[in-house]
Amino acid sequence: TQKDHSDLASFQSERVCVFGTGDMGRSLGLRLLQAGYGVVFGSRRPHSSSSLIPHGAQVLGHAAASQSAHLIFIAVQREHYDFLVPLANQLKGKVLVDLSNNLRKNQYPEANAEYLQSLVPGAEVVKGFNTLSAWSLQNGPSDANRQVYICGESVEAKQAVIAVAIKLGFSALDQGFLSVARELEDFPLQLFPQWRLPLRIAIGLSAAFFFYLLIRDIIYAYVTQSKDISFRIMVSLANKVCPIVSLIMLSLCYLPGVLASFLQLYRGTKYRRFPDWLDRWMLCRKQLGLLALGFAFLHVLYTLIIPIRYYVRENRTTQFDTTTAWRGDSYLSLGILGFGLYVLLGITSLPSVINTLSWREFSFIQSKLGHLTLLLCTAHTYLYGWNRFLSSSTYKWYTPPGYMLCLVLPSVVLLLKLLLITPCVDRTITRIRQGWERGADQ
Ligand code: HEM
Repeated sequence: TQKDHSDLASFQSERVCVFGTGDMGRSLGLRLLQAGYGVVFGSRRPHSSSSLIPHGAQVLGHAAASQSAHLIFIAVQREHYDFLVPLANQLKGKVLVDLSNNLRKNQYPEANAEYLQSLVPGAEVVKGFNTLSAWSLQNGPSDANRQVYICGESVEAKQAVIAVAIKLGFSALDQGFLSVARELEDFPLQLFPQWRLPLRIAIGLSAAFFFYLLIRDIIYAYVTQSKDISFRIMVSLANKVCPIVSLIMLSLCYLPGVLASFLQLYRGTKYRRFPDWLDRWMLCRKQLGLLALGFAFLHVLYTLIIPIRYYVRENRTTQFDTTTAWRGDSYLSLGILGFGLYVLLGITSLPSVINTLSWREFSFIQSKLGHLTLLLCTAHTYLYGWNRFLSSSTYKWYTPPGYMLCLVLPSVVLLLKLLLITPCVDRTITRIRQGWERGADQ
């Protein structure tokens, strides 16, 4: 028990220093105190800062504070780093953790952490914790993002920082040398980076089809029959735009994979990089798919209210006709089956679900069932069009309806996929993926 006591004493006396009494410095200090560290704040005006700092921490001038700990968190804006220059002697051999972030990318020629290292060459600078907010530090590990990224030149210094991160309840990932700092500093400035392109596509397609259908449906009726059916914008038009955008985006999700296969076939090897645009496109397939699912979901909701919109139903007393009934039920059923698989694809793209699947299971669902979903949704739309493809009255002002336009891309993707799964092409692709190269075995 004596040893336990002395362990406890050394644990309690383990001190860390925090320079800066702003939001970030105070939140970090509080977390460090809660984790059992002794915390000494370094401040320009120790007397006036003492009321700000968390209860239980000490506040001293920078020089005195730096004497009391081996590890110093620098929670100060980069513009104020010059105060560290006169302290260079006291900071020799200390581990300085740079927490800073910038307001925009490429604000300075070098990373803040590299700049800090150049100001205090005798210290070991480690970049880290900058992806956390003061808010997430205060909320504790249960609520906060649990990962912190660090980088730096010295392995021992990084280990010391990792040890503190773990005690605070975070998992630390060592990203490498200090040259990575710039990347870590850009990280918090990103705003949903993988969603940006898919969102732009979704907004662009929705706007384009909205105006196209507005002209074809509403303005056309107004001009040619002087009928005002503008109320249809709210439901009928929305229920065209949503499924059209959904189907196009679903095909955009599968097109890059098909293009990549053809590129490998053409090059006869898998050992060459894809062009950048294709790489980028492949990396946002999940986001494209999830947005497409969102639009499909809206289409299903809009479809559910068709029966209650009595004022839209025309007072036609149509004779029962078996063919029409077959067509109606078939396209609805294919839509439902397609939507069912669509939801399955969405669920299996969630990280927690992916973790329970083997690679083979994941690729079976995302590739085989994915293309089947595309096939069902495309067939749903073809059957919806039925014989209207051939009737000239469909082409108002010589323009094809939206569902015909949106069938182009999925049809192309499905045809290309069909070519890829024909036995002789499939065999070549499989060999290429296993490492075979055309011309190499002669
Ligand atoms: C059209 C039902 C799922 C794509 C329609 C229409 C109905 C319908 C009733 C005709 C709408 C109208 O007359 O204005 C359903 C049901 C579904 C389903 C019940 C599943 C529960 C899907 C899915 C897609 C899709 C998953 C794929 C993206 C389309 C397209 C149209 C359409 C492109 C043509 C829109 C237009 O009028 O231009 N669907 N659908 N549907 N559906 Fe679906």
